[in-house]
Amino acid sequence: MRLDVLTLFPEVFTNVLEHSMLRIAKEKGLVQYHLFNIRDYADNRRCVDDRPYGGGPGMVMKPEPVFQAVEAVEAEVGMRPKKILLTPQGSRFSQSVAGMLAAEPYLMLICGHYEGFDERIRMGLDVMEISIGDYVLSGGEIPAMVVIDAVVRLIPGVLGDIDSAKNESFFEGLLEHPQYTRPAEFRGMKVPDVLMSGHHQKIKEWQKIHAIKKTAENRPDLVNKP
Ligand code: ADE
Repeated sequence: MRLDVLTLFPEVFTNVLEHSMLRIAKEKGLVQYHLFNIRDYADNRRCVDDRPYGGGPGMVMKPEPVFQAVEAVEAEVGMRPKKILLTPQGSRFSQSVAGMLAAEPYLMLICGHYEGFDERIRMGLDVMEISIGDYVLSGGEIPAMVVIDAVVRLIPGVLGDIDSAKNESFFEGLLEHPQYTRPAEFRGMKVPDVLMSGHHQKIKEWQKIHAIKKTAENRPDLVNKP
């Protein structure tokens, strides 16, 4: 997968992309990251934002630098990416959206800053708008990192164990069951006997029951889903 990020703050991505799973994915040759500064594509005094028509607080991202950045990158690469705009007005990101995006050969994430994007960016660029949750962040950079992390780990071959993602939360609509490792007893808290019994069928049953229990306690909205 090729993954491009268009942002006013490319530096904030470098550290995240250089560690853990995102780095391993790159080293395995399964993903390439490319960062572009939208400001480099703005002509008039590198200005990327302006006051909103109709008044109101804050500044709005101008359309020209974003269009110019997208078009220049597309022309350079010679391929059409699936374009994603990170905004609080987008449709909600989820594990299933991450799974869909993991099958794309080329993603382009466009991060806004300030009060938001000029509407013509949405209208003219054929973008999918994604929000990572019902709260407003100061820019699309942290949401883009969330999307990148969730997507890249689902690219086939990135996780060592093919089944790893299958045991995780949200697979089959449930949160993951509780996990334990050594020691068998810590500060008076014991690992449930069944997990140390070696009885695979019983362990599976315990895990299923506790996945349902945890989901009912923490996320009743998931349990009641049709
Ligand atoms: N930009 C600002 N807030 C956001 C959010 N919640 N999701 C995605 N992009 C955003």
